[in-house]
Amino acid sequence: MSNAPLVQTRENDLCVEDLPLARIAAEYGTPCYVYSKALLTRAYNDFAAAFPERNTLVCYAVKANSNLAILNLFAKLGAGFDIVSEGELQRVVAAGGDPRKTVFSGVGKRAAEMRSALEHDILCFNVESEPELLRLADVARDMRRRAPVSIRVNPDVDPKTHPYIATGLKTNKFGVAFAEARTIYQMASALPSIEILGIDCHIGSQITDVAPFGDALDKVLELVDELAKDGISLHHIDLGGGIGIRYKDEAPIALSEYAATLNARLVGRNYQMIFEPGRSLVGNAGLLLTRVEYIKQGGDRRFAIVDAAMNDLIRPALYEAYHEVVSVAPRAGQTAAVYDIVGPVCESGDFLARQRLLAVESGDLLAVLSAGAYGSVMSSNYNTRPRPAEIMVDGRSSHLIRARESVRDLYAHEKTLP
Ligand code: LLP
Repeated sequence: MSNAPLVQTRENDLCVEDLPLARIAAEYGTPCYVYSKALLTRAYNDFAAAFPERNTLVCYAVKANSNLAILNLFAKLGAGFDIVSEGELQRVVAAGGDPRKTVFSGVGKRAAEMRSALEHDILCFNVESEPELLRLADVARDMRRRAPVSIRVNPDVDPKTHPYIATGLKTNKFGVAFAEARTIYQMASALPSIEILGIDCHIGSQITDVAPFGDALDKVLELVDELAKDGISLHHIDLGGGIGIRYKDEAPIALSEYAATLNARLVGRNYQMIFEPGRSLVGNAGLLLTRVEYIKQGGDRRFAIVDAAMNDLIRPALYEAYHEVVSVAPRAGQTAAVYDIVGPVCESGDFLARQRLLAVESGDLLAVLSAGAYGSVMSSNYNTRPRPAEIMVDGRSSHLIRARESVRDLYAHEKTLP
């Protein structure tokens, strides 16, 4: 993934690509999400090129940022997709993505979602439990189809990340227990409406140590060899996503290091390798642009109250996640002070950043960085706040890729009693 910075100062203007953020704020208003087409493109291309000697498919994890313009950009670059709902499948199709390069993850697939995915001829179902396998077999049989499957195994490795986003431990709800996987494969191989295609795992997110990926692949390969003894041969290995990015001072895993760690274990093996990166493709290609409404001194704390809030970017409130905040136009002579950057929502947890040294005044613009992944997609309408606009920058041009919601949009589906 690319660590190129999203923002640079040009002649005193903080810019994304060649466009000053102040111009974007003037044109589209705040708060808004701003993405760089060049950084998105580079992040995808770097990942796709990381395994030159192998047959690989990069299935972008749609959940990280599902805007149609981003899906369309990746589709044009050749990406496949990792989806977790019928809704995400429809987005992939609407964006011109290829369902035949799409894998379907998630622990709670409904029968209707399975039918739709089969009708669209998706590449593979990443099956997470025995009852799901049996349901899928029924659905496929009724449609006189064979459902392509991979079983998601839970390798029980510690990804050393935030507990809410670790998914490969045996205490998590994801995947089938390692010890049970072989039996489930045997069961799958006896089901005529099931076609075994591969094996998959996803151990967590925002992982900054390469070792857990190697450990997970070791466990997966152990299982692959056992399955071979049972006469079950696989076409692909899907290692999920999880590569972390730099929010503050993390040292992210270099793609070359990731590739070397996996390649060392894959010598003499010719599986197609599937990856499901989300955050590492979009996280550092997007920011949240917000304006300071008020400066407020409360007791011994100083607050910068901005027009973005936890409903727009929930990661700080939910995970105590750190997002760097930079001032868009620091003025000469302004003195810096320590601020909590908070929103207008009526919750004490409504903060975007805490205890940051900044020189700001009311009316200033701030950029909340590394907000391209799990930002807009996790936004809500709490406090009847319309979701922000989304803008894609391409060189000197900007494109509105999601219009700001109106308040009417928010209650369009509601009705008073007769
Ligand atoms: N594949 C599967 C099956 C997943 O569950 C996920 C993410 C991915 C791929 C993509 O992982 P990534 O490359 O983005 O790490 N909302 C949290 C992150 C939740 C991740 C959920 N699964 C956050 O804001 O940090």
